Amino acid sequence: MIQARTGLRTLTLAAAIAAAAAPALAAPPSAAPTPPMGWNSWNHFAAKIDDATVRAQADAMVKSGMRDAGFRYINIDDTWEGTRDANGVIHPNSKFPDMKALADYVHSKGLKIGIYSSPGPKTCAGYEGSEGHEAQDAQTYAAWGIDYLKYDLCSLGPRMIAAGSLDKAQDIELAAYKKMDAALKATGRPIVYSLCQYGVAQVWRWGGSVGGNLWRTTGDITDKYARMATIGFGQAGLSKYAKPGNWNDPDMLEVGNGGMNATEYRTHMSLWAILAAPLLAGNDLTKMSPETLAILTNREVLAIDQDKAGRQGDRVRAEGPLEVWAKPLSGGAKAVGLFNTSDQPSYVEVKYSELGLKGSAKTRDVWAAKDLGVLKGYRTLVPGHGVVLLRLG
Ligand code: GLA
Repeated sequence: MIQARTGLRTLTLAAAIAAAAAPALAAPPSAAPTPPMGWNSWNHFAAKIDDATVRAQADAMVKSGMRDAGFRYINIDDTWEGTRDANGVIHPNSKFPDMKALADYVHSKGLKIGIYSSPGPKTCAGYEGSEGHEAQDAQTYAAWGIDYLKYDLCSLGPRMIAAGSLDKAQDIELAAYKKMDAALKATGRPIVYSLCQYGVAQVWRWGGSVGGNLWRTTGDITDKYARMATIGFGQAGLSKYAKPGNWNDPDMLEVGNGGMNATEYRTHMSLWAILAAPLLAGNDLTKMSPETLAILTNREVLAIDQDKAGRQGDRVRAEGPLEVWAKPLSGGAKAVGLFNTSDQPSYVEVKYSELGLKGSAKTRDVWAAKDLGVLKGYRTLVPGHGVVLLRLG
C-alpha cells in the first residue's frame, strides 16, 4: 500500500515536471493521427437508418473482429435530425429516441460514435443544418458523447454560387467551416472534424487550415467499378496535401455492397490503402460474407493504410489501362500497386529503379500472403479490373 502510494506520488511529480517542461502552446494531439477507420450508414442504409440499426452495426463490428482489426467509428450520416426546441437546441427525430444512450452503448463496445450536419440551413437530404447554431450544436454533440462530425456543405452551395465571384464564395465556405471548428474545440472534447464538399475549390490546399482532419476530394462514390476507379485513380497528384492529422478523403468504402466483384473490391481496398484514405466501411456489417470480411480486415492491407509515417501514395506511371502506384512506408519500405483497369487480364511490370530504389528489395504479394524473394522488379499477370499489391522491404 505504502509502495503504491509512493509510486503514485512519484508519478504525479514526474507528470508535473513534464508539464512544466512542455512548451506552453504545444498543440493537443490530433484526433486523427492515422486515417480514421470505421463504418458509416450512408452507402448502404441512406435514410433507412435508426437507433436499432446503429446498435446492430456496433455489435457486428465487434463480433466480426473488425474492431480488433482497427475499425473504431460508428458514424451516423444524414437523416437523424429532428427539430430545434424553443431554445434552439437540436433534437434527433423519432428514429433516434435517445442519442446519449446510443452513444453510451457504442462506447460500451469499445467503439466511438460519429454524427453528421451541414454548415448551411439544411443538410443534403433536407434535414436541419447547423447554420447559426454552431456553438450550440457542438455542445449538444459533446454532451451526447460524439467523437466525430461529418460536416457537409449542401445548402450553402446555392448561396456560394450567388456570391458572384470565386473569392466571395470561398469566404462564405471558409468562415462556415472555421465557425464549427472553433465550436468543436470550445467543447474540450476531441472530435474528428470531417469536411464534405466534394473537392470544390481545391479543398486539399486549405482543409487543414480551417481545422479539418479530413476533407472529401470528390463527389459521391457509388457501388460501381467505373465510379470507384474514376474517383480512386483521380487522386493522382494529391499526395503532398496529406499528413498525420490531415487526410484527403476519396469517400467511403463500397466493399460488400454487391455492385462489384471480389477482384474489384480488392482493387478498391488496395487503392484506398495506398492513398492513406479514411477507411469507412459502407456495407451492412450484420450480413457480411466471409469474403467481404476478409477484404475489409486484411491486416497487411490495413497496415499499409495506417502506416505511421502517414504518407499518401501516388501514381508512378500510367500506360493506357495499366497503372503503377506506390506509397512510402515507415522504415524505408514501400507499398506498390500494379493495377489493370481494362476488363481483360494483362501483364503489368514494375522496375524498382523507377520507384527510386537502388538495387533489390524483399518482395511480398500482400493479397496472396506470399513472399516472392529479393527482386529488382516484378512482372505479373493482373486480372481485369484487378490489382497485385506488393510490399517491398
Ligand atoms: C452528400 C454526401 C454523402 C452523404 C449525403 C447525405 O451527398 O456527399 O456522403 O452524406 O450527402 O445526404
